[in-house]
Amino acid sequence: MSHSALIVADLYAEVEGKRILKGIDLRVEPGKVSALMGPNGSGKSTLAYTLAGHPKYIVESGTATLDGIDLLALSPDKRARLGLYLSFQYPAAIPGVKVANFIYAARQALRPGDLPPAKFRALLMDRLQVLDMDPSLLGRYVNDGFSGGEKKRLEVLQLAMLAPKYAILDETDSGLDVDALRAVGDSITALRADDEGRQTGFLIITHYPRILEHIRPDVVHIMLDGRIVKTGGADLADRIEREGYDTIREETTSVA
Ligand SMILES: Nc1ncnc2c1ncn2[C@@H]1O[C@H](COP(=O)(O)OP(=O)(O)O)[C@@H](O)[C@H]1O
Ligand SMILES: [Mg+2]
Repeated sequence: MSHSALIVADLYAEVEGKRILKGIDLRVEPGKVSALMGPNGSGKSTLAYTLAGHPKYIVESGTATLDGIDLLALSPDKRARLGLYLSFQYPAAIPGVKVANFIYAARQALRPGDLPPAKFRALLMDRLQVLDMDPSLLGRYVNDGFSGGEKKRLEVLQLAMLAPKYAILDETDSGLDVDALRAVGDSITALRADDEGRQTGFLIITHYPRILEHIRPDVVHIMLDGRIVKTGGADLADRIEREGYDTIREETTSVA
């Protein structure tokens, strides 16, 4: 049986003794984009950290599988090697490690020896251009003194160079200006079916619908208080843009 999907089923998780995720069901397929939207504090980042295997986020029950493999039984490192990439809301600086070397090491770890250095360099320059990034960033230390927008673009550059099977992007759009949003959107759209013949499946976590004008999602989930309360198509994101989360909160809590 083939299971090409990242599937989360009835997932409950707690942080610091408090239940945050209350039965999450999700499915992400290669080449598809699912969006997870919700107001601050609804548990979106908790889901990302739980899937990444952060030790503070404890799974109480439920499952998460990647192509049929039990993700929750694996170390964070093994999850990444299986092809799961997570970009976090607050990327860390790594003083002393240059961007180009960092990305090369990450690619080598994921796919040892699959790109000779010269080809790696050519691909890197190409991806840099799509993201409209200054090549001088490659010689700087990872995120060290980067502006908010530069950090986010670097996250997407790493993503584009790794071409993972599944990517979870947590608020990668926050703090981006319109040009950066478009660049990030183009880069992600290219990865849905990239020129190396790979397809990445995305879970795009976002508070604001704006990024979804550049990357039309196949599915939109709305999360409130640790639950997915509504699922729909791209038009659901348009509705959030117009109405905010309040009407959905009223609709879904009045019947619960
Ligand atoms: N490391 C943590 N320690 C304590 N509480 C946490 C931690 N991470 C998340 N939470 C709590 O979980 C809830 C959901 O937070 P979060 O997942 O960050 O929401 P979102 O990403 O949707 O804004 C919040 O009440 C938050 O305070
Ligand atoms: Mg968050």
